[in-house]
Amino acid sequence: MHKVLSALLVLSVLLALPAASFAAHGDGQADKAGILVASFGTSMPQARRAIDNLVNAAKTAFPGVEVRLAFTSNIIRRKIASERGEIIPTPVEALARMNDEGFTHVYVMPTHIIPGEEYDEIVNVVEAFSSLKGKYGFRKIAVGKPYLFGVEDCDQMAKVLMARFAKQLRQKDTAIVLMGHGTPEHIANAMYSQLQLSLDRAAYGRFFLGTVEAAPVITDVIAKLKRNRGVKKLVISPLMIVAGDHANNDLAGADDDESWLNLLKKAGYKNITPYLVGLGEDPNIAKGFVERIREMMK
Ligand code: CO
Repeated sequence: MHKVLSALLVLSVLLALPAASFAAHGDGQADKAGILVASFGTSMPQARRAIDNLVNAAKTAFPGVEVRLAFTSNIIRRKIASERGEIIPTPVEALARMNDEGFTHVYVMPTHIIPGEEYDEIVNVVEAFSSLKGKYGFRKIAVGKPYLFGVEDCDQMAKVLMARFAKQLRQKDTAIVLMGHGTPEHIANAMYSQLQLSLDRAAYGRFFLGTVEAAPVITDVIAKLKRNRGVKKLVISPLMIVAGDHANNDLAGADDDESWLNLLKKAGYKNITPYLVGLGEDPNIAKGFVERIREMMK
Protein backbone atom coordinates (compact mmCIF):
# COMPACT_ATOMS: atom_id res chain seq x y z
CA MET A 1 0.00 0.00 0.00
CA HIS A 2 2.80 2.31 0.98
CA LYS A 3 4.66 1.60 -2.25
CA VAL A 4 1.60 2.27 -4.38
CA LEU A 5 0.98 5.58 -2.64
CA SER A 6 4.53 6.77 -2.99
CA ALA A 7 4.61 5.66 -6.63
CA LEU A 8 1.47 7.69 -7.24
CA LEU A 9 3.01 10.66 -5.46
CA VAL A 10 6.17 10.47 -7.56
CA LEU A 11 4.07 10.12 -10.67
CA SER A 12 1.98 13.19 -9.87
CA VAL A 13 5.10 15.23 -9.17
CA LEU A 14 6.62 14.06 -12.45
CA LEU A 15 3.50 14.93 -14.39
CA ALA A 16 3.42 18.41 -12.89
CA LEU A 17 6.95 19.22 -13.97
CA PRO A 18 7.96 20.13 -17.50
CA ALA A 19 9.98 17.29 -19.01
CA ALA A 20 13.16 19.29 -19.48
CA SER A 21 13.47 20.28 -15.84
CA PHE A 22 14.43 16.83 -14.64
CA ALA A 23 16.26 15.46 -17.62
CA ALA A 24 19.49 13.64 -16.71
CA HIS A 25 18.83 13.67 -12.97
CA GLY A 26 18.80 10.02 -12.03
CA ASP A 27 15.75 8.58 -10.30
CA GLY A 28 13.13 11.09 -11.27
CA GLN A 29 14.15 11.10 -14.91
CA ALA A 30 11.26 11.19 -17.36
CA ASP A 31 11.20 8.84 -20.31
CA LYS A 32 12.83 10.30 -23.37
CA ALA A 33 13.00 8.05 -26.40
CA GLY A 34 15.31 8.43 -29.36
CA ILE A 35 16.14 6.58 -32.55
CA LEU A 36 19.70 6.40 -33.83
CA VAL A 37 20.04 5.44 -37.48
CA ALA A 38 23.47 3.88 -37.97
CA SER A 39 24.76 3.83 -41.52
CA PHE A 40 28.11 3.12 -43.10
CA GLY A 41 27.75 6.55 -44.66
CA THR A 42 28.47 8.04 -48.05
CA SER A 43 30.42 11.06 -49.22
CA MET A 44 28.44 11.39 -52.47
CA PRO A 45 25.68 14.00 -52.09
CA GLN A 46 23.38 12.36 -54.68
CA ALA A 47 23.76 9.00 -52.89
CA ARG A 48 22.93 10.56 -49.54
CA ARG A 49 19.23 10.79 -50.49
CA ALA A 50 18.86 7.07 -49.74
CA ILE A 51 20.03 7.49 -46.15
CA ASP A 52 18.01 10.66 -45.63
CA ASN A 53 14.92 8.88 -46.94
CA LEU A 54 15.24 6.24 -44.20
CA VAL A 55 15.82 8.90 -41.53
CA ASN A 56 12.77 10.81 -42.75
CA ALA A 57 10.64 7.65 -42.86
CA ALA A 58 11.49 7.07 -39.18
CA LYS A 59 10.70 10.71 -38.34
CA THR A 60 7.31 10.47 -40.03
CA ALA A 61 6.44 7.13 -38.41
CA PHE A 62 7.43 8.20 -34.88
CA PRO A 63 6.56 11.90 -34.61
CA GLY A 64 7.27 12.25 -30.87
CA VAL A 65 10.67 10.59 -31.05
CA GLU A 66 13.88 12.32 -32.03
CA VAL A 67 15.75 10.61 -34.86
CA ARG A 68 19.49 11.03 -35.16
CA LEU A 69 22.10 9.79 -37.61
CA ALA A 70 25.54 8.24 -37.13
CA PHE A 71 28.08 7.02 -39.68
CA THR A 72 30.38 4.10 -38.99
CA SER A 73 32.99 4.92 -41.62
CA ASN A 74 35.66 7.26 -40.26
CA ILE A 75 37.05 7.83 -43.76
CA ILE A 76 33.67 9.13 -44.91
CA ARG A 77 33.06 11.12 -41.71
CA ARG A 78 36.41 12.89 -42.10
CA LYS A 79 35.92 13.46 -45.81
CA ILE A 80 32.56 15.21 -45.46
CA ALA A 81 33.80 17.14 -42.44
CA SER A 82 36.71 18.58 -44.43
CA GLU A 83 34.84 18.97 -47.74
CA ARG A 84 31.60 20.51 -46.55
CA GLY A 85 31.98 21.00 -42.81
CA GLU A 86 29.28 18.49 -42.03
CA ILE A 87 29.89 16.70 -38.75
CA ILE A 88 28.31 13.26 -38.45
CA PRO A 89 29.12 11.38 -35.23
CA THR A 90 30.15 7.76 -34.84
CA PRO A 91 27.56 5.54 -33.10
CA VAL A 92 29.62 5.73 -29.88
CA GLU A 93 29.72 9.52 -30.00
CA ALA A 94 26.03 9.81 -30.84
CA LEU A 95 25.01 7.52 -27.97
CA ALA A 96 27.25 9.30 -25.45
CA ARG A 97 25.65 12.59 -26.45
CA MET A 98 22.14 11.13 -26.21
CA ASN A 99 22.98 9.91 -22.72
CA ASP A 100 24.19 13.38 -21.79
CA GLU A 101 21.00 14.92 -23.14
CA GLY A 102 18.81 12.73 -20.96
CA PHE A 103 17.55 10.11 -23.41
CA THR A 104 16.37 7.04 -21.48
CA HIS A 105 15.21 4.70 -24.27
CA VAL A 106 17.33 4.43 -27.38
CA TYR A 107 16.65 2.35 -30.46
CA VAL A 108 19.63 1.85 -32.71
CA MET A 109 18.62 0.97 -36.25
CA PRO A 110 21.37 -0.07 -38.67
CA THR A 111 20.85 0.38 -42.40
CA HIS A 112 22.79 -2.75 -43.31
CA ILE A 113 21.50 -5.43 -45.66
CA ILE A 114 23.13 -8.47 -44.04
CA PRO A 115 24.25 -9.08 -40.43
CA GLY A 116 27.93 -9.02 -41.43
CA GLU A 117 31.04 -7.43 -40.00
CA GLU A 118 29.65 -3.90 -40.03
CA TYR A 119 26.52 -5.00 -38.21
CA ASP A 120 28.59 -6.85 -35.60
CA GLU A 121 30.36 -3.56 -34.85
CA ILE A 122 27.02 -1.86 -34.12
CA VAL A 123 25.93 -4.77 -31.91
CA ASN A 124 29.21 -4.46 -29.97
CA VAL A 125 28.55 -0.78 -29.32
CA VAL A 126 24.97 -1.42 -28.20
CA GLU A 127 26.09 -4.25 -25.90
CA ALA A 128 28.75 -2.02 -24.38
CA PHE A 129 26.21 0.73 -23.69
CA SER A 130 23.67 -1.71 -22.29
CA SER A 131 26.26 -2.90 -19.77
CA LEU A 132 26.57 0.66 -18.41
CA LYS A 133 24.34 1.17 -15.39
CA GLY A 134 23.33 4.33 -13.55
CA LYS A 135 24.32 7.78 -14.68
CA TYR A 136 25.87 6.79 -17.98
CA GLY A 137 23.48 4.03 -18.86
CA PHE A 138 20.16 4.02 -20.70
CA ARG A 139 17.07 2.39 -19.20
CA LYS A 140 16.65 0.65 -22.47
CA ILE A 141 18.87 0.33 -25.50
CA ALA A 142 18.07 -2.00 -28.37
CA VAL A 143 19.45 -2.76 -31.81
CA GLY A 144 17.32 -3.50 -34.88
CA LYS A 145 17.76 -6.32 -37.33
CA PRO A 146 19.25 -5.80 -40.77
CA TYR A 147 17.17 -6.59 -43.86
CA LEU A 148 18.36 -10.13 -44.49
CA PHE A 149 18.30 -11.79 -41.08
CA GLY A 150 16.60 -15.05 -41.99
CA VAL A 151 14.79 -17.09 -44.62
CA GLU A 152 11.55 -15.09 -44.41
CA ASP A 153 13.48 -11.84 -44.77
CA CYS A 154 14.95 -13.11 -48.03
CA ASP A 155 11.48 -14.00 -49.32
CA GLN A 156 10.33 -10.52 -48.35
CA MET A 157 13.31 -8.90 -50.09
CA ALA A 158 12.56 -10.96 -53.22
CA LYS A 159 9.03 -9.50 -53.22
CA VAL A 160 10.42 -5.98 -52.88
CA LEU A 161 12.81 -6.61 -55.79
CA MET A 162 10.04 -8.08 -57.95
CA ALA A 163 8.06 -4.86 -57.45
CA ARG A 164 11.14 -2.66 -57.88
CA PHE A 165 11.98 -4.16 -61.28
CA ALA A 166 8.42 -5.00 -62.39
CA LYS A 167 8.72 -2.88 -65.54
CA GLN A 168 12.06 -4.41 -66.63
CA LEU A 169 10.87 -7.95 -65.83
CA ARG A 170 7.98 -7.62 -68.27
CA GLN A 171 10.60 -7.81 -71.01
CA LYS A 172 11.26 -11.53 -71.21
CA ASP A 173 14.81 -11.25 -72.58
CA THR A 174 15.96 -9.02 -69.71
CA ALA A 175 17.76 -10.16 -66.56
CA ILE A 176 18.50 -8.14 -63.44
CA VAL A 177 22.10 -8.32 -62.22
CA LEU A 178 22.42 -7.20 -58.62
CA MET A 179 25.61 -6.20 -56.81
CA GLY A 180 25.58 -6.87 -53.09
CA HIS A 181 28.45 -5.66 -50.93
CA GLY A 182 29.54 -8.97 -49.41
CA THR A 183 31.41 -9.70 -46.23
CA PRO A 184 34.45 -11.98 -46.58
CA GLU A 185 35.19 -14.55 -43.87
CA HIS A 186 31.80 -14.10 -42.25
CA ILE A 187 28.94 -16.57 -42.03
CA ALA A 188 26.41 -13.84 -42.91
CA ASN A 189 27.72 -13.79 -46.48
CA ALA A 190 25.54 -16.88 -47.01
CA MET A 191 22.48 -14.59 -46.95
CA TYR A 192 23.21 -13.71 -50.56
CA SER A 193 22.80 -17.34 -51.61
CA GLN A 194 19.63 -17.52 -49.54
CA LEU A 195 18.30 -14.43 -51.28
CA GLN A 196 19.21 -15.93 -54.66
CA LEU A 197 17.07 -18.95 -53.74
CA SER A 198 14.15 -16.67 -52.88
CA LEU A 199 14.62 -14.77 -56.15
CA ASP A 200 14.77 -18.02 -58.13
CA ARG A 201 11.53 -19.14 -56.52
CA ALA A 202 9.88 -15.82 -57.33
CA ALA A 203 11.17 -15.54 -60.91
CA TYR A 204 13.54 -18.25 -62.05
CA GLY A 205 16.37 -17.11 -64.31
CA ARG A 206 15.58 -13.41 -63.99
CA PHE A 207 17.81 -12.28 -61.11
CA PHE A 208 21.57 -12.82 -60.86
CA LEU A 209 23.12 -11.79 -57.58
CA GLY A 210 26.82 -11.26 -56.95
CA THR A 211 28.93 -9.29 -54.49
CA VAL A 212 31.78 -6.84 -54.82
CA GLU A 213 33.83 -7.95 -51.80
CA ALA A 214 33.05 -11.65 -51.38
CA ALA A 215 31.20 -14.53 -53.11
CA PRO A 216 29.45 -14.97 -55.47
CA VAL A 217 31.92 -13.00 -57.59
CA ILE A 218 31.17 -11.50 -61.00
CA THR A 219 32.65 -14.51 -62.82
CA ASP A 220 30.08 -16.71 -61.01
CA VAL A 221 27.36 -14.32 -62.21
CA ILE A 222 28.61 -14.41 -65.81
CA ALA A 223 28.90 -18.22 -65.81
CA LYS A 224 25.32 -18.49 -64.60
CA LEU A 225 24.07 -15.91 -67.09
CA LYS A 226 25.65 -17.90 -69.92
CA ARG A 227 23.55 -20.91 -68.97
CA ASN A 228 20.41 -18.80 -69.54
CA ARG A 229 20.46 -18.38 -73.31
CA GLY A 230 17.25 -16.37 -73.36
CA VAL A 231 18.94 -13.45 -71.64
CA LYS A 232 19.84 -10.69 -74.11
CA LYS A 233 19.51 -7.50 -72.10
CA LEU A 234 20.78 -6.69 -68.64
CA VAL A 235 19.84 -4.22 -65.98
CA ILE A 236 22.66 -3.73 -63.45
CA SER A 237 21.81 -2.33 -60.04
CA PRO A 238 23.26 -2.21 -56.50
CA LEU A 239 21.75 -4.37 -53.77
CA MET A 240 22.89 -1.74 -51.30
CA ILE A 241 21.09 0.96 -49.37
CA VAL A 242 23.19 3.61 -51.04
CA ALA A 243 24.20 3.86 -54.70
CA GLY A 244 27.61 5.32 -53.88
CA ASP A 245 31.16 4.50 -54.75
CA HIS A 246 30.64 0.75 -55.41
CA ALA A 247 27.60 1.36 -57.61
CA ASN A 248 29.14 4.18 -59.64
CA ASN A 249 32.63 2.71 -60.01
CA ASP A 250 32.80 -1.05 -59.33
CA LEU A 251 29.41 -1.73 -60.90
CA ALA A 252 28.83 0.82 -63.63
CA GLY A 253 32.18 2.58 -64.02
CA ALA A 254 32.70 3.14 -67.76
CA ASP A 255 36.44 3.89 -67.42
CA ASP A 256 37.19 0.94 -65.16
CA ASP A 257 38.21 -2.22 -67.09
CA GLU A 258 37.28 -4.33 -64.09
CA SER A 259 33.82 -2.82 -63.55
CA TRP A 260 30.89 -5.21 -63.89
CA LEU A 261 29.61 -3.11 -66.77
CA ASN A 262 32.80 -3.70 -68.75
CA LEU A 263 33.22 -7.35 -67.74
CA LEU A 264 29.63 -8.07 -68.81
CA LYS A 265 30.26 -6.26 -72.10
CA LYS A 266 33.37 -8.38 -72.61
CA ALA A 267 31.23 -11.45 -71.94
CA GLY A 268 29.10 -10.47 -74.92
CA TYR A 269 26.21 -8.48 -73.45
CA LYS A 270 25.72 -5.40 -75.59
CA ASN A 271 22.54 -4.04 -74.05
CA ILE A 272 23.22 -3.10 -70.44
CA THR A 273 21.23 -0.50 -68.53
CA PRO A 274 22.56 0.67 -65.16
CA TYR A 275 19.93 1.46 -62.54
CA LEU A 276 21.94 3.32 -59.94
CA VAL A 277 19.42 4.04 -57.23
CA GLY A 278 20.05 3.01 -53.62
CA LEU A 279 17.58 0.65 -51.99
CA GLY A 280 17.13 3.29 -49.30
CA GLU A 281 15.12 5.33 -51.79
CA ASP A 282 12.66 2.46 -52.33
CA PRO A 283 9.37 3.07 -50.47
CA ASN A 284 9.05 -0.65 -49.63
CA ILE A 285 12.53 -0.69 -48.11
CA ALA A 286 11.70 2.40 -46.06
CA LYS A 287 8.51 0.67 -44.88
CA GLY A 288 10.52 -2.40 -43.79
CA PHE A 289 12.97 -0.13 -41.98
CA VAL A 290 10.15 1.46 -39.96
CA GLU A 291 8.66 -1.97 -39.18
CA ARG A 292 11.97 -3.11 -37.69
CA ILE A 293 12.13 -0.04 -35.47
CA ARG A 294 8.57 -0.69 -34.31
CA GLU A 295 9.52 -4.31 -33.53
CA MET A 296 12.35 -3.06 -31.30
CA MET A 297 10.08 -0.67 -29.42
CA LYS A 298 7.70 -3.45 -28.32
CO1 CO B 1 32.76 -1.36 -49.53
